[in-house]
Amino acid sequence: MNKRMKAAVVGLSFGGWVIENELLKEGSKYFEIDSVCDLNEEKAKSWGERLGVPYYTDMDRLLAERQIGACVLITGPVGRAKQIDKCIDRGIHVMTTKPFELTATEAERVLKRAREKGIVVQMNSPSPRPASYMKAILDYQKRFDLGRPIAYRAADWCSYREKPDGLWYDDPERCPVAPIFRLGIYMINEVASLMGDVEKVSVAESRIFTGRPTSDNALVSVLHKNGVVGSIFASFCVNDLQHYKCSYEINYERGTIYKAVKPRNSETAGNKVSMQVVYTKDGRQYMHEEEIEDSSNYQWEVFYRCIGGAAYDDLVSDEQIVAGIRLIEMMKKEKMI
Ligand SMILES: NC(=O)c1ccc[n+]([C@@H]2O[C@H](COP(=O)([O-])OP(=O)(O)OC[C@H]3O[C@@H](n4cnc5c(N)ncnc54)[C@H](O)[C@@H]3O)[C@@H](O)[C@H]2O)c1
Repeated sequence: MNKRMKAAVVGLSFGGWVIENELLKEGSKYFEIDSVCDLNEEKAKSWGERLGVPYYTDMDRLLAERQIGACVLITGPVGRAKQIDKCIDRGIHVMTTKPFELTATEAERVLKRAREKGIVVQMNSPSPRPASYMKAILDYQKRFDLGRPIAYRAADWCSYREKPDGLWYDDPERCPVAPIFRLGIYMINEVASLMGDVEKVSVAESRIFTGRPTSDNALVSVLHKNGVVGSIFASFCVNDLQHYKCSYEINYERGTIYKAVKPRNSETAGNKVSMQVVYTKDGRQYMHEEEIEDSSNYQWEVFYRCIGGAAYDDLVSDEQIVAGIRLIEMMKKEKMI
């Protein structure tokens, strides 16, 4: 496969950002935007005219009329599996976004169906292949013989002052423990695959600055079946311009891994992530430090090559994708606003 594949973009709110920052950049090496679609005609028309491509307000019509190989699906997470079904029915591969689904059974069902039909379904989180820092964490565990994981603290924050707009973001049923579902989801997906099955979760959440009915500040404590305990903090309330860093402290039997915990100047930090490992061997303490590129963008090349039949031995499994959604479901049951 060496020709660009035609792709439609469905959902043009955050999808507009994906077009500008992903599909017209790195993604354009592999995919050509063929058409766009949004239920909102103004958005569809404006993107269609801007890109010089046909626009639709009905996804079914687009899928029936356009000769496309892929659909970039950037609608909300509620009912995403059913939208993916429509693509599968027409033999169209899907790149979508986090959170993949709100319901684990639906996620599991559609991933299995896609696999059976030979359709590639990928998303930005969990990413198809591990992001650079996840690869580094997996490598450190082995290289420095850290032993079994014991505990973790994961944190991510940014600064929003949102008003209600009637979207799914306002509905605690469709957007449970909002900062975790919207922002903490990256960490949820990562700890679900690093730390294994979850036994129990508990949630603390609050509304500090938001005008929405859903929370803007939240902490989830997680007990894993293997005894690991962890916390995931996500907030839209902190304005220190160290946003979207997903920092981690992970304790193991014989060491601790730190990711991006150093205070950084956002203008000079670029895409670099600072990693540190402190570990012990034969009673002595050692330290390893490095800066790595953060590669947490959409993996267009992997998507394209998987469609062409390429095999990678480190691709995320369906179980790992579903594990994150199970954790969200447990959190939804446990929440105590
Ligand atoms: N907003 C962000 O900063 C951000 C960042 C990363 C990822 N995401 C993810 O991107 C997804 C979309 O987020 P958003 O903020 O754009 O949500 P949104 O609800 O604001 O927008 C979704 C868009 O999709 C359209 N849409 C919904 N169903 C459709 C259908 N069947 N056919 C055609 N169009 C349809 C809607 O009209 C709307 O314009 C979510 O999963 C979100 O978590 C958002």
